Amino acid sequence: MDEILTLGIESSCDETSAAVLRGGREVLSNIISTQIPVHQKFGGVVPEIASRKHIVNIMPVIDEALRKAGVTKADIGQVAVTYGPGLVGALLVGVSAAKALAFALDVPLLGVNHLEGHIFANFLQDKSLEPPFLALVVSGGHTALVDVADYDTFRLLGQTRDDAAGEAFDKIARVMGLPYPGGPEIDRLAKEGDPLAIDFPRALDKAGSSEFSFSGLKSAVLAYLNSEKMKGHEIHKANVAASFQHSVVEVLVHKAFDAAEQAERKTLVLAGGVASNSNLESRLMEEARKRGIRFQYPGRILCTDNAAMIACRGYYQARAGHFSDAYLNAVPGLSLGV
Ligand code: KG4
Ligand code: ZN
Repeated sequence: MDEILTLGIESSCDETSAAVLRGGREVLSNIISTQIPVHQKFGGVVPEIASRKHIVNIMPVIDEALRKAGVTKADIGQVAVTYGPGLVGALLVGVSAAKALAFALDVPLLGVNHLEGHIFANFLQDKSLEPPFLALVVSGGHTALVDVADYDTFRLLGQTRDDAAGEAFDKIARVMGLPYPGGPEIDRLAKEGDPLAIDFPRALDKAGSSEFSFSGLKSAVLAYLNSEKMKGHEIHKANVAASFQHSVVEVLVHKAFDAAEQAERKTLVLAGGVASNSNLESRLMEEARKRGIRFQYPGRILCTDNAAMIACRGYYQARAGHFSDAYLNAVPGLSLGV
């Protein structure tokens, strides 16, 4: 089992990815073909275009992952694929490819929850990491605090009531005329601004609640931009970016550590695309030092959508005997822990 090769496949949104993993934690290859330039001119992901691109990219990406790993299809011991959450047409491309390969190679199939995959990226980053720990999942579609008791037991402590953190970054960037995806753009711009210049709201920022809400913040930023425009003031974009980011980050940081303390977890891990936000990383690190909690986050490649994290989650599912069959379907609204 420890030397088994897992082929991972990910196609839930706008990245087509395939990876080969040896055992649970050794990444032999992790090929990611991003569609960002294709969707950029529309200001966001266009689902039908994403599906069409996945169909074109999926086999070349899988072939490249095998070639880079120095293995052939015959060496693959199991196939792990994201089956939700995500865009249904995009998910179906990966699920169909994985089913076909598992059937043709006569190897087990593992349907993986994309959010669990994001959390498991941390096992690839730190080979000594073991549950239990608390995970802060922040992506374009989700913001959640998850208690990971062991490799198969996840408890959702709270999530966003409206927009995800990444979605808020993307929407604010869009109204400020910045390209898609907006998160990295705001991150960059915020470095030149003053985070205390504008006092934006922090929703649900009271102790004891693990729920999030970012739609009020988004409205407050829009209202600020409109009122400045009406007054004929020039907008200091870097200050808006820094102040908006500060509001998001402080809420995430406080809630994550409060939840870790309530759950009596000594380790906090970060997961999802927004995990690459430089301010979020540094604030979590600073707070972890103060509170004596171990903190870690995946490297940049492992933060955003990739198939290595899916293969890793699949490996541990197989170890627990949780296999899928040929009836596996895409589940766009899949929740965590299912
Ligand atoms: O996990 P991911 O690759 O896809 C989903 O599963 O949603 O996350 C993508 C999200 C986007 O909203 C993007 O703007 C955000 O992650 N993101 C960032 C940064 N890099 C990516 N948000 C804030 N700061 C960043 N540096
Ligand atoms: Zn993701």
